[in-house]
Amino acid sequence: MAKKKNSKVSKAAFKAAKVVITKNGPYVVSGNLPLVREIIAAGSDGIPVKWKKGANYPRQETYVLCRCGKSKNKPFCDHSHAELGFNGTETASKKKFLEQAGRLDGPGLFLADAKVFCAGADFCYGAGGVWKLTLDSGNPRSRKLAIQEACNCPSGRLVARDKKTGKSIEPKLKQAVSIVEDPVQKVSGPIWLKGGIPLESDSGRKYETRNRCTLCRCGYSTNKPFCDGTHISARFKDEKK
Ligand code: FES
Repeated sequence: MAKKKNSKVSKAAFKAAKVVITKNGPYVVSGNLPLVREIIAAGSDGIPVKWKKGANYPRQETYVLCRCGKSKNKPFCDHSHAELGFNGTETASKKKFLEQAGRLDGPGLFLADAKVFCAGADFCYGAGGVWKLTLDSGNPRSRKLAIQEACNCPSGRLVARDKKTGKSIEPKLKQAVSIVEDPVQKVSGPIWLKGGIPLESDSGRKYETRNRCTLCRCGYSTNKPFCDGTHISARFKDEKK
């Protein structure tokens, strides 16, 4: 009985192009959004430098992604959340990114940095790190590398902003959903929402729509629904790669 009740998803969740978080249950993705695996690739020094495309999933108008981390059919929900009594309480702030971010001033860039969103992808550590590069952003090479590292950050924790215009420098991303794999740290990572996909709480409230954000799919984040990097210490693995 409990299984049937907890896994029930409202019809409203299936209408528009968006992601809806269900109470103590999965994410409902609607709007015919592509679903693909993306893999973190490191350079010779072991620091992530680029994204590699993995397998594409067959296109579906609507699909339901596991949020508790225990599905045997990952990344899709198999109702394990109901059997396990998953507590998916949303603990994240609804404040906008810039209200939660600190600001680092360099000569050519600002760096907006909201650590609470960190998914531990580690693209920010190359060439001395994005913070050092921002402070040296009067140098064109450092500026370019700082932008590149910030733009590779899947969670949008890091956003480089032009010093003159104050505008955010964002990668051009088409609307899509990616399942992150991190062979560098030998773990499976979060769900990466790309290209400004609206995200709706289980109460119907909306989070800020961002060009990039990462959602927890291991079940352990303390900043649900967002990933906070805990999948790394939890050694989360998606066995069905
Ligand atoms: S997937 Fe990153 S904390 Fe759960």
